[in-house]
This record gives sequence, structure tokens and C-alpha cells, in this order.
Amino acid sequence: PSTATENEKGALVLGGMSVTEIAERHGTPVYVFDEADFRNRCARFRRAFEGFDVYYAGKAFMSRATLRMAEEAGLSLDVCTEGELAFAKAVEFPADRILMHGNNKSTEELAAALDYGVGRIVVDSFAELDRLGELVPRFPGVRPNILLRVTVGVRADTHAHIATAHEDQKFGFSLVSGEAAEAVRRVLGDGLLELRGLHSHIGSQILGTAGFEAAAKRLLELRAQFVREGAVLPELDLGGGFGIAYTPGDEPTEPEEMADILRTLVAKECATLGVDVPRLAIEPGRAIAGPSGVTLYTVGTVKHREGIRTFVAVDGGMSDNVRTALYDATYSVRLAGRASDAPLQLVRVVGKHCDAGDVVVRDDQLPSDVRPGDLLAVPGTGAYCRSLAHNYNQVPRPPVVAVADGTSREIVRRETIDDLLRLDMG
Ligand code: LLP
Repeated sequence: PSTATENEKGALVLGGMSVTEIAERHGTPVYVFDEADFRNRCARFRRAFEGFDVYYAGKAFMSRATLRMAEEAGLSLDVCTEGELAFAKAVEFPADRILMHGNNKSTEELAAALDYGVGRIVVDSFAELDRLGELVPRFPGVRPNILLRVTVGVRADTHAHIATAHEDQKFGFSLVSGEAAEAVRRVLGDGLLELRGLHSHIGSQILGTAGFEAAAKRLLELRAQFVREGAVLPELDLGGGFGIAYTPGDEPTEPEEMADILRTLVAKECATLGVDVPRLAIEPGRAIAGPSGVTLYTVGTVKHREGIRTFVAVDGGMSDNVRTALYDATYSVRLAGRASDAPLQLVRVVGKHCDAGDVVVRDDQLPSDVRPGDLLAVPGTGAYCRSLAHNYNQVPRPPVVAVADGTSREIVRRETIDDLLRLDMG
């Protein structure tokens, strides 16, 4: 996080607390969440994307405390399941600022969304249009505002598992096949739902702007066809996916630059197409929460495999950060609890799970005197780490500890082995 410093002993300081204090107080592994950093980034996106609706994509990391922070910063919220909606309800997140996603929303989920009165539902399929059509009569006077998710046919420059707008993936209505146009026609024709506009989400951890520009152009062209026929489609949602720097080589686009590019492009395209300019929306998750999180681990073993590499095993692993195994994600690591003058060596940070794929940091350097008991910090773990955490080998999930102004508090408590045993019916 941008607020990180170091103390006189060479220990990393987060939110005014040294990692040594945090580890003593809360144990390891622990996700440390820098509250000021998160609030600052919410505010920065809100400012940079002035005139847009900015939906925080709660899937990146959701807890009641962080939802309150996002709400206070003026962000809206993207939820994609009944569970995520329940968290939003638990903090009384204003319903009109909630947008609901999901490629296979159940009737119950849609009913929960209508019942709470969410501001937008992003419809992903014809089956869902049917489900909504059947539900609406159960909510007298309600005419749900919807967006249609369009598969724009752009292959985002990111890992295959998180590219979501080419044809060969499950999300949305296909643009090239004509499905998207058919969906628009159907909604405009049946009058049950209020079509606010179109949506696309091209993928995640995208560093450049080209994919977003291509997606916006395609959405605008599709939209213009209907606007010229007299339809009113006041909104255009370009989804999330803005990348962050995990390692020094990553150069993400700054939010101000992204906003500028999108604003200019949309104004220009609309002028060329001869149609009105829609209100824009974005749905950043990772770019808001990612940099605020740092995972702290304690080293348990160090194995030097002569001529191969050094394996540093920590007390967590793929259960608290599955991204390295799942997406080949790159992370960095640093010795966090003390200074060291020892020369650097190439290491692989691995976990404690019974799986050779249990890697946290594939390649980085640590001082060669790294030893059991040392604290290690892996930055950039605020998004999609706690939210993707699992219990392989019956390992309890770590807590999320928010730090601010020299104090710490668990915003998500540490899971215990008793919690795990309690789910087992014996
Ligand atoms: N909007 C929609 C419709 C999405 O599906 C997503 C993410 C977002 C917004 C937020 O995307 P972001 O700004 O966070 O990139 N588990 C993967 C990421 C999956 C993203 C899924 N959808 C990972 O750890 O990389």
C-alpha cells in the first residue's frame, strides 16, 4: 500500500503498526488491510471518474467494514450472488446504488434483488429474461432497470481464465451472432423491463486501454442501431478489469488517464454515430482493493536444492492465495520483520499444503539468511485472495486485519478448526 513505511529495526510498518506487532497480536498467516489506502483509492476513483457511476466490484473483497468504507466514499456496488447481496443488505447499502451481476442467477436470487430494490440488474441470458418476466408480476408496481451484458468479441490481454469477452466463454449475449441485438429487441418489445443500456466486461487484470476502447466502440455501435430507431438507452457500463502492479514490471493505466480516454472516445464515437452520449459506468474491484492488502506469513522451513532453487515454506499457501496456482499470477515477497545485509538469492515461496502446485510466489529474491521464524510480506493481496480462499487440507482461512492510525482490528475473524469441524455432520 502507498502508506507503507519502515521502522528503525527495518520492519515493515502498515497503517502505523509494525508487522511484528501485527503478527504478535493476530498471528500469521494474516491478511493486513490498509484502511487509509483503501479509502484513498475509493476517493481517487470517485474523483477520476467524475460523471460516471463507479461500482465497486465486491467479489474482489467483501466485508461489512469495507462495504461501509466504499459507501462512505460515494461508490456504488456490484454484487453477483445472493450471498454478496446479503452483505450489502447487512450494511444497508443504498439499494439504488447496487447493481446485480451473475451469469446464472437463480429465481431466488433475482427475487431477492427485486425485493431489496436493487438499482440495476445486468441480464446475462434469455433464460434470465424469462425468469425475470415471470417474477415481475409478483412485485406490483416494480419495473426493474436492466442492462444487457454483451459479449463484444474482444480477447482481453490477460490470463485465459479471466478473459471474458471473446466468443468461447460463458458470459453474456453474443454480439457477432446477433444474439445481443435480438435480446435488445425482445426487451424493448415486451415492456416488462426498463432497458437502461448495455454492458460489457472484457476480463480482469488488464494493464492497457485498447481492449476497453474496442469494447466501448462495439457497444456504442450496437446501441446506435436502436437509438436511431427511437429507443432511449441512457447508460453504458464498461465493466471492471483495470489491472494493478503485482511486480515492478507491471505498468497499469492510471485511473485519471483511463477515465479521460474513455470519456473522449465515447463523446467522439457518439458524435460520429450521430447519437446522444450515454452516462458511463465502470466496475473496478481489483484496482480498488488489491493494493490495500498485504499477506504476512511466518517462515517454517528453508530448503536449498543445490543447482535448482531455494524453497522457502510459509505457514499458509494456496488456501489463502490460490491465484499463483490458478492463473500463474506473479507476486513479489519481502523480508518484513527485520533488516538484512545478506546477499539476495532467488527463492520460491511455497505453502504448507500437500500439493506441489502450492506456490505463493514463483520467483523472487530474499536475503540468503532468511530462516525459520522470519516474517515475510506478500503485497497486492487485497483482491481475490480472501475471496478465493479455501480449506484444502482442513486449513482454516486467515483473518483480515484492518490497520489504521497505529491500531488494528479484525474485520474478518480467523477461522478455527472448530468452525471446520462444525460443518461436518459426523
Ligand atoms: N464486473 C464484472 C461483471 C466482473 O465479472 C468482474 C470480475 C468485475 C466487474 C471486477 O473485475 P476487476 O476490476 O476486479 O478485475 N478471480 C480472478 C478475477 C476474476 C474476476 C471476475 N470478474 C483473479 O483472481 O484474478
